[in-house]
Amino acid sequence: MNYTQAKQLLAANGQQQLLEYYEELNEEQRASLLSDIGKIDFSVLENLHSEYSKTLGKLSPADALSVEDIAKDKEEYEKLGLAALRAGKVGAVLLAGGQGTRLGSSLPKGMYNIGITRTLTIFEQQMNNIKQVTDKAGCMFHLFVMTSDLNDAATRAYFKDSNYFGYDPSKIHFYEQKLAPACSKEGRIYLDQKYKVSMSPNGNGGWYSSLVEAGYDIFLKSEGIEWLNIYAVDNVLQRICDPVFIGATIKSGCACSGKVVKKVAPEERVGVLCKEDGLPTIVEYYEMPPELAAMRDEDGQLTYRYGVILNYLFSVDVLNKIYKDKLPCHLAFKAIPHIENGVRVTPSEPCGYKFETLAVDIVRLMGSCLAFEVVREREFAPVKNKTGVDSVESARELLKLNGVKL
Ligand code: UTP
Repeated sequence: MNYTQAKQLLAANGQQQLLEYYEELNEEQRASLLSDIGKIDFSVLENLHSEYSKTLGKLSPADALSVEDIAKDKEEYEKLGLAALRAGKVGAVLLAGGQGTRLGSSLPKGMYNIGITRTLTIFEQQMNNIKQVTDKAGCMFHLFVMTSDLNDAATRAYFKDSNYFGYDPSKIHFYEQKLAPACSKEGRIYLDQKYKVSMSPNGNGGWYSSLVEAGYDIFLKSEGIEWLNIYAVDNVLQRICDPVFIGATIKSGCACSGKVVKKVAPEERVGVLCKEDGLPTIVEYYEMPPELAAMRDEDGQLTYRYGVILNYLFSVDVLNKIYKDKLPCHLAFKAIPHIENGVRVTPSEPCGYKFETLAVDIVRLMGSCLAFEVVREREFAPVKNKTGVDSVESARELLKLNGVKL
């Protein structure tokens, strides 16, 4: 894209401010800015005016396999799951395209050191968790790692330098998700630097469409991969390709399944797996009507008690049918560094919007979902913040509880 084309494109979209400092830039910076402008998907800005606001249908609690139910049939599920793994029918997808802004590190979130007396990064801890499964199954599964343009090179280099944590490198596949522009409250796209448009990852909802765009749908087919287990980078107790979970899902006949934990309190900040107009859905904590969140069964348990932990198993067949369907776009109001009056500012308070689609919204499109309850202290140690709730501190305590030496 040359300067004249960029100018016309920006004028047509009311975003001329992106060329405000063009005259000050050197040749290389100019080329980089023009290339950025050529890549902007302006259509996401339409969501600013028609902000997605969820009007909930008729909610009812999800049927779930409880920890007790699972214990009864554990052997059968495990056998089924191990057989599927050994037949190469299951792969995993690590969602590592996020920025981890709350953690305040510029490195990929998975490179964060949660060790105390030794270095133990989140990536390494999760690969250790995987090893427990692959040792038991006696084989490795294909692992897809979703990154973004902002952390792809660093993530790949870290895996390589770490010798892929002993995993077979031919079974690890990196691919990039898309970015979306970030803008002010008024919808003016920010400059991150005078020569760089402010772009951020467009949410984890595009994990499958980006996989397809990278050409991996053909690979999944040729390898006979029927199930994909997606998981978040920020849970250090994440059990990946858990054979019992896989077996229970296959047996259930559902198109997908999600690991859930019992919420500790009505106001806990986790999405809840339930049914909306008969379809499986995840209602985010900020969308859940407080009276429903607080509702209790006769035995005193929360009626809407199953919180999701971003560990889902999806049928590839069903994904192929629905992945082109439009997902709602969520607006995340965040503190976004940007250029203001010629100076780069790093606001401490939210100032503008990022646009994201979410993987949880795919669950509804799948049509059926098994809620699979796991023991929280064994499988859920999210690292979202540096201190306090869901933090490095709380995750360390949970790792120790699970016998991990820090
Ligand atoms: P979060 O919603 O916690 O977002 O991601 P985040 O970007 O990592 O962290 P903050 O909000 O900036 O502090 C949940 C999971 O989804 C992945 C993250 O890497 C994490 O595993 N994710 C999130 C993506 O893969 N892509 C995205 O665009 C956003």
